[in-house]
Amino acid sequence: MARATSKAASDAPRDAIALLKQDHRTVEKLFDEFEDAEEDQQQAIAELVCQLLTVHAQIEEEILYPAAKDAFEDEEDDDLVNEAAVEHQTAKDLIAKIEGMTPDDEKFKATVTVLSEYIKHHVKEEETELFPKLKKTELDLKQIGAQLGERKMELMQELGIEEEPPEAPTRKRSGRSGGAKARQARAGSRSKSASRSSGRSARH
Ligand SMILES: [Fe+2]
Ligand SMILES: [Fe+2]
Repeated sequence: MARATSKAASDAPRDAIALLKQDHRTVEKLFDEFEDAEEDQQQAIAELVCQLLTVHAQIEEEILYPAAKDAFEDEEDDDLVNEAAVEHQTAKDLIAKIEGMTPDDEKFKATVTVLSEYIKHHVKEEETELFPKLKKTELDLKQIGAQLGERKMELMQELGIEEEPPEAPTRKRSGRSGGAKARQARAGSRSKSASRSSGRSARH
């Protein structure tokens, strides 16, 4: 009996950008989990990602993007919104493909990976270009956040989904892939520890 009981939606209205960014993080986390998951879990994770992305895209298209276009005065800023909407369409095509596949399909994993990369690109553009521009407008982002939250709740209920990812072994990785700092630290002050860590070699 899956019900939409996401904390996010039941909370007091939040800023539109905070709400959307949280969705972005949730989806990124699920994509990471997909990578590590066993084949029998992958389909459930992919399904949830696809549903969450569908809801996310829909609330942006119904509420955020039109509001942004209304508020922007510059045509270039409108173009940014148009590009985002076109990107949604491409994402939806990939989502439809994934939803029609099973994990034994040869291209299942590859298609999810391509969707993940595509979404990463789209999210980056929203967070580094669109959202900062929205903050400079006179839009009431709290009010839009409330609308987004309400619509999200409705759509999640329609789909019968919860935001919580399916139970999966939470194998925590130590940090993200970008280990530049760690590498620096290792290269710099920790040369002594090389003799201690006889397990794996520090490089490749
Ligand atoms: Fe988007
Ligand atoms: Fe988004």
